[in-house]
Amino acid sequence: MKLTLTNHNFSTLLNSSFINLTRPFCSLSLSSSLSSSTSIKPQVPIFLRPPIYSTKLNDLKKWHNWAKNIAFSIGSSFVQSDNGPDSTILCRELKWFIEDVVENHHSLFSQVGDDNEKVKMRADIEELYCLWKQRIEERKPFQYIVGCEHWKDLVLSVQEGVLIPRPETELIVDLVSDVVSKNEGLKRGVWADLGTGSGALAIGIGRVLGDGGKVIGSDLSPVAVAVAGYNVQRYSLQDKIELREGSWLEPLKDMEGKLAGLVSNPPYIPSKEIPVLQAEVGKHEPRVALDGGIDGMDALLHLCDGADLMLKPGGFFAFETNGEKQCRELVDYMKSNKSASLCNLEIFADFAGIQRFVIGFHR
Ligand SMILES: C[S@@+](CC[C@H](N)C(=O)[O-])C[C@H]1O[C@@H](n2cnc3c(N)ncnc32)[C@H](O)[C@@H]1O
Repeated sequence: MKLTLTNHNFSTLLNSSFINLTRPFCSLSLSSSLSSSTSIKPQVPIFLRPPIYSTKLNDLKKWHNWAKNIAFSIGSSFVQSDNGPDSTILCRELKWFIEDVVENHHSLFSQVGDDNEKVKMRADIEELYCLWKQRIEERKPFQYIVGCEHWKDLVLSVQEGVLIPRPETELIVDLVSDVVSKNEGLKRGVWADLGTGSGALAIGIGRVLGDGGKVIGSDLSPVAVAVAGYNVQRYSLQDKIELREGSWLEPLKDMEGKLAGLVSNPPYIPSKEIPVLQAEVGKHEPRVALDGGIDGMDALLHLCDGADLMLKPGGFFAFETNGEKQCRELVDYMKSNKSASLCNLEIFADFAGIQRFVIGFHR
């Protein structure tokens, strides 16, 4: 297969999650009794909190003007420093922020009426000042401010300590959906999502499997396991998705040679690139979710051994990489070291046309 190199890199792709123009409408309701399997209590996204606060419309307008002025003052300075968001993106985020916080946000500021009128909100006005300062001054990702990210047709809870799922990773679910649509055995089998983070892939795949199919999502990070557990419960998939804490293959010893499928979007950024990432990513997202060692390949090579060891005959695997060079290196490694067990290797491009995923089957 002929592969072409592009000048895209991981940080440009990461930035794409901050320029998501189409934010789907969300109508899910809150279940406050959800708890994770660990002692960590996941944060409830703002849009799911009850509207127990009220503030005068005038005070909300004052906050909105303050927040908008700060957003405008940023101009393109973040773009110039590290390809961060400009004021247009920040103003769009401010609009989404209000939609999540204010119960009846439609035509809120266009109303002619009483400025003393009370507005019902899901966060205190003081918290709004604090959160918007964190967004601008600390460059805290917008998704951590509101506590969620829209991914496929899901709205997943996220918080500091858990990677914000990226749009390109959605394609792994599509690849799995395609494979299981042609193979009933794989559709009814047990799948694993190693390094599940927010549980995005585990949930996406859980929904495309048939009645008997199950997913095991695992992660080294207890915060990730707790947040994934919260998301699994919100989508009522507890019977289909099991979460386990531990390093890569270690929590799945009982599944050796039994998995129908194995997917992973592991950490794959070369260590030396972490300090130059966009501040939202490099300063706030967990290093354990990003850093793939000297050349970014540490986890990916380990996962090849995982596919060899864990998959049953005919089982499918899909791995996300940093793109292009890593895809080629991974395929070369499999051809040289795993040709007795892994076959039908293919490289797939992401939405931007970058060779991003390596897929294949166990013989
Ligand atoms: C790039 S993030 C992907 C998260 C999620 N799958 C997604 O696509 O949004 C990589 C994940 O691998 C986890 N991880 C890192 N090292 C690990 C290890 N040794 N064992 C298991 N998980 C690990 C991180 O905690 C993180 O959640």
